[in-house]
Amino acid sequence: MDSPTQSPWFNSFFSLFLFFTFLLFIPTLGQSDNYIIHMEPTFMPKIYSNHHSWYLATVSSLQQKSSSNSRFMKNRGYSPESKLLYTYTEAIHGFSANLSPDELEALLTTPGFISYHLDASVKVDTTHSTGFLGLSADSGVWPASDYGMEVIIGLVDTGVWPESKSFDDDGFGGIPSTWKGKCEAGTQFEPSMCNKKLIGARYFNKGLIAKNPHLNISMNSTRDTAGHGTHTSTTAAGSAVKGASYFGYGSGTAVGIAPMARVAMYKALWDEGAQLSDIIAAIDQAIADGVDVLSLSLGLDGLQLYQDPIAIATFAAVEKGIFVSTSAGNEGPYAESLHNGIPWVITVAAGEMDRDFGCTIGLGGGSSLYGSTLFPGDLYLPKSPIVFMDACNDTVKLRKVGRKVVVCEDKGDMLDNQIYEIYTADVSGGIFITNSSILEFYAGSPFPAIFVNPKDGETIKEYIQTSTDPTAKVEFRRTVYNYRPAPSVAVYSSRGPSPSCPFVLKPDILAPGTEILAAWPQNVPVTLVNSSQLYSDFNLLSGTSMACPHIAGVGALIRDIHPEWSPATIRSALITTAYSTDSTNSPIKDKGSNREPANPLAMGAGHVDPNKAADPGLVYDVTSQDYVNLMCALNFTENQIKIITKSSSNDCSRPSLDLNYPSFIAFFSANSSETPPPREFFRTVTNVGDATSTYTAKFTPMEGFEISVVPDKLSFHEKYEKLSYKLTIRGPKQMTDAVVFGHLSWVDSDMKHVVTSPIVATTYRSELIP
Ligand SMILES: *[C@@H]1O[C@H](CO)[C@@H](O)[C@H](O)[C@H]1NC(C)=O
Ligand SMILES: *[C@@H]1O[C@H](CO)[C@@H](O)[C@H](O)[C@H]1NC(C)=O
Ligand SMILES: *[C@@H]1O[C@H](CO)[C@@H](O)[C@H](O)[C@H]1NC(C)=O
Ligand SMILES: *[C@@H]1O[C@H](CO)[C@@H](O)[C@H](O)[C@H]1NC(C)=O
Ligand SMILES: *[C@@H]1O[C@H](CO)[C@@H](O)[C@H](O)[C@H]1NC(C)=O
Ligand SMILES: *[C@@H]1O[C@H](CO)[C@@H](O)[C@H](O)[C@H]1NC(C)=O
Ligand SMILES: *[C@@H]1O[C@H](CO)[C@@H](O)[C@H](O)[C@H]1NC(C)=O
Repeated sequence: MDSPTQSPWFNSFFSLFLFFTFLLFIPTLGQSDNYIIHMEPTFMPKIYSNHHSWYLATVSSLQQKSSSNSRFMKNRGYSPESKLLYTYTEAIHGFSANLSPDELEALLTTPGFISYHLDASVKVDTTHSTGFLGLSADSGVWPASDYGMEVIIGLVDTGVWPESKSFDDDGFGGIPSTWKGKCEAGTQFEPSMCNKKLIGARYFNKGLIAKNPHLNISMNSTRDTAGHGTHTSTTAAGSAVKGASYFGYGSGTAVGIAPMARVAMYKALWDEGAQLSDIIAAIDQAIADGVDVLSLSLGLDGLQLYQDPIAIATFAAVEKGIFVSTSAGNEGPYAESLHNGIPWVITVAAGEMDRDFGCTIGLGGGSSLYGSTLFPGDLYLPKSPIVFMDACNDTVKLRKVGRKVVVCEDKGDMLDNQIYEIYTADVSGGIFITNSSILEFYAGSPFPAIFVNPKDGETIKEYIQTSTDPTAKVEFRRTVYNYRPAPSVAVYSSRGPSPSCPFVLKPDILAPGTEILAAWPQNVPVTLVNSSQLYSDFNLLSGTSMACPHIAGVGALIRDIHPEWSPATIRSALITTAYSTDSTNSPIKDKGSNREPANPLAMGAGHVDPNKAADPGLVYDVTSQDYVNLMCALNFTENQIKIITKSSSNDCSRPSLDLNYPSFIAFFSANSSETPPPREFFRTVTNVGDATSTYTAKFTPMEGFEISVVPDKLSFHEKYEKLSYKLTIRGPKQMTDAVVFGHLSWVDSDMKHVVTSPIVATTYRSELIP
């Protein structure tokens, strides 16, 4: 899962999930292991009535073939049923099975075999965002979409806590007739726990158990014992719950982005671990069940598209018209740290909102200051002596302080250590003067830890120095809004270019990801104070895992308004209407790069604007053949393309790296001896606005680069008319910055529609220069 979750405290005390990415393990030779096998369905002999029986027979024949080599197999009494884990029909053509090395070898010569992957394992180691997104009951996409009533959002995650009020179905109409899914019984989970909001609940762990035969699954059902799935699903589509808060922080009505959309949970992430074979089975089932939107807050690093099960499985989903939202990952702020840079999905980066949680610090002299904190304990810290201890690195001295408030100054990279020192020193509380831009990691500390900026820090230091008897008292549980500037890009959000397909600019878009309030299981502790665990029906989490379901929710609203739109059209509408200026009217800042203006490799086109996305004017649509043309140009082999498309014949007669995408990325070298050749991009836009409309091209300057667009005027005469243009980027011999960016906007004559695409010129991946 893409969740740094709450804070280091939380994870070290509970050793709960802190899994950022999947770790791939190489199997020990000689042992059997799980494999995901791609088969060519047209090879199925006629004697079999369906693929499942063909695959069962295949697995059974492998045992016979291989047992001639291995005397052990005969005695182990394996049945093909126990070896075949899943038959996949939608997401991939093929199956997963637990096979010995001999069986795997026998498989390679089986008719219809295309290729196999080793199953990989996972290392297990809002009240406000709707308002921030401009969602309102009075106008815009909420009323226009009926709050997403007709749309089903599927999530592959850790399960759900069905008793959460966020799954109440008061006022819900009947379940959409297209729904074919179900609510499976299991440990502490009855089919009757589903309703008109939570319409599906299934769980997948055959792969996990085959891999670890002695594993005890503590909660063998869709019930969530980690919290992540309850949080992501209610972020996307939680019903309104009044009086929600995290210990008084962020109190208000918690509501998901598409509050009337239906939720179907596919649990494939377990406290005990997770296997890709289970995740593919979950996506396979979601496609078959008829979900409209898929939210995948998980991803794999370092794989080619044809090796990445998320890329493979989502291709089928997108072909079926499912809008797929994925998380960019939490490996930022480093370049090329992104996953899910898959051309057919939308890849979501995480941003911060205009909200902060904190406290009022009352100094004895009468002045009062604001500090950031999420301390969940007592409301007040009574008046106590306050002392300044500089870097707070003298353990011996700190341990002698006693019940006082200690002020520490972080002069760069000291915060971790300072918090640890104060926590172990048993003082009344700590005030940390810091510039740190990752306070969300620390805010959930189990003792009163308060963070102030260097300017307020000076005020506190001066007060302590000039007062004979300095004291401070604190009142916690404050929430401030209009915290400026907002939005900004979170430090941890992974950055592009996409390692698996750098020719398509990723991430696509920015959505709220930091300190998101959403539902939480009743019996999973949220934090710790004075060595006791605290529980809450709502929790604040940070990560691209939290940003992804926001976009799934927005996609659901748009899908409800425009049921005929393709996933690429919905994605285009979100991208071209995103905004890139913050609440102070300056460029959105990147907290991962010294609060410099964020570039599109950090935030894609910018921050999502749901109301505008419903009426984008022009869209960039993409067909399956366009994706095939891209894969052909990536020099994938016929089999590699087949694995992704599941089609026996793929037309590679028109290879092209230039996908009809609403953004542009061009590679240049930092220093070349000759003027680089111009880079050309061809695009076709479809008019989904007024029948008669004329758009003019406008672009922002990019220093050192010359941008031209031909034609620079597009005149439409009917709805759904398509017109094409060419964008050319001429670059300099030398590029001093790694990234230079700008925007192309097509603006219609009455300025009603502004269709904006980011343009990036970069020296990253300069080896890709044509
Ligand atoms: C699984 O549970 C059983 C019964 O509770 C116990 O005997 C066994 O040791 C457990 N196995 C593991 C691997 O934890
Ligand atoms: C989990 O539940 C399923 C379905 O009820 C059952 O087939 C399976 O054996 C169970 N697994 C474990 C580990 O209890
Ligand atoms: C935690 O312990 C401190 C010191 O013993 C006490 O003052 C405070 O009330 C306790 N807080 C909670 C929430 O138990
Ligand atoms: C504490 O930090 C200061 C400033 O970085 C440094 O000069 C001093 O040596 C440190 N003291 C200890 C005890 O580590
Ligand atoms: C905090 O940031 C400001 C402005 O970026 C800088 O001038 C100052 O030196 C920084 N202070 C510390 C303690 O890092
Ligand atoms: C594909 O192969 C051709 C011919 O070898 C080469 O020119 C081209 O750069 C390759 N494309 C990519 C994306 O690697
Ligand atoms: C660029 O390359 C030229 C020749 O290859 C070299 O002389 C020059 O110093 C380089 N400039 C920079 C800024 O690296």
